[in-house]
Amino acid sequence: MLPRRLACSRHAAVRMGIDELAAMLPPVTGTTRAELEDEVAAVVPPQDVSKLLADLKQLQPDETGIVRWFPPTGLKYCAGGTALWRLAKPYNDYLKVREMRLAEEKAALILDVNKTAHHWVLDLGSGSGWMCKGIVAEALRLCESVTYTPLDTALEAVNTAKEMYGLELPAAKLLPHVGSWDDAMQTSFYKDLPQDTEITATFMGTTAGNFSDDYMVSFIDGFLSTWDQLPFRAKLVLWVDGAPSDLKPAQAIVDAYGCAEDGALDFHMMKMINASLDLDFPLDKLQWNVDYDTREEAIKMWMEAVDNFPVNHHGQQVTQIPKGSRIQTQMSRKFSDALLQSMAERAGANLVIHRTDDDFYKAAVFSREATAKRT
Ligand SMILES: C[S@@+](CC[C@H](N)C(=O)[O-])C[C@H]1O[C@@H](n2cnc3c(N)ncnc32)[C@H](O)[C@@H]1O
Repeated sequence: MLPRRLACSRHAAVRMGIDELAAMLPPVTGTTRAELEDEVAAVVPPQDVSKLLADLKQLQPDETGIVRWFPPTGLKYCAGGTALWRLAKPYNDYLKVREMRLAEEKAALILDVNKTAHHWVLDLGSGSGWMCKGIVAEALRLCESVTYTPLDTALEAVNTAKEMYGLELPAAKLLPHVGSWDDAMQTSFYKDLPQDTEITATFMGTTAGNFSDDYMVSFIDGFLSTWDQLPFRAKLVLWVDGAPSDLKPAQAIVDAYGCAEDGALDFHMMKMINASLDLDFPLDKLQWNVDYDTREEAIKMWMEAVDNFPVNHHGQQVTQIPKGSRIQTQMSRKFSDALLQSMAERAGANLVIHRTDDDFYKAAVFSREATAKRT
């Protein structure tokens, strides 16, 4: 899938080369090729490597003369990348602090508990579960009993969540699930529940911003349609970064995502690409860019070739990258109220939006009349 052309923007984009980024970051210990390969092996199954190489071979310039490529995001979030990610304070202050505050301060409104008996908090793509603690803590205050399910494809994340909730919120019953959120779109996932159960499923960490609108509409519809078949009141809460508004300048988004640590993370990913595919992208010929795409309502990050260069695999040229080519490293969609409303309409859902006072961050609650009525 090729991105549409970037819309012109009036705000200042961020552009940095690897040397500038390296100079701004605390010294990071050198990563050996063997270490990179170990990391790669953990995230890219061997059968995918040949597919990725085939994709790369077929790259052609588009109608604007630019070769565009989306590397697999799995190469970003693994050991070395996660360590760099933790350094990204401007980004984390902008996003994570607000998300956490919204979860803590507006938990009662978001939970909107109808019954006080049993509440099941289902944390989809939970990671370590740290973001959901405010919601679970409030559910414990409001309800007689609470079950918390950290659900993630990463075993390590689910184990971390189990340990943390066991220590910090021991009153919540833990029902961890290692697997895909698709598993929770099956009615068989909801068995042996007390009759007076209410379900709140959370999708936190701006994960929704990584997906297309179509994917998110089918995600919302998938959950609500599954719950339609169950005798429980249930809702899905998407935690999203808001689009620019009167209160939120686009430049605030560019500044937060354009921090040096975020750039270092993307260069780390390029190293992983070189190591995993045995390629030789010259990092010094790539410039890292961040800008807000007004038309797509998304922040875009990409590496731009500042020169023509060949890319070799095992010493054999696979492609020639022309100056100006873009390797997209991340896209993070921002959500206007209008976009959320149109998603709700397409999914046949009711929508209630809770937000931080500065309008930077939102929790969008999707539910269906049919499920709400069974209370
Ligand atoms: C952006 S992180 C958010 C983590 C956490 N909720 C937070 O707020 O910090 C997305 C998480 O989704 C998980 N994930 C990705 N694809 C998944 C899938 N299909 N099913 C379940 N979890 C998935 C990843 O392992 C990762 O932990």
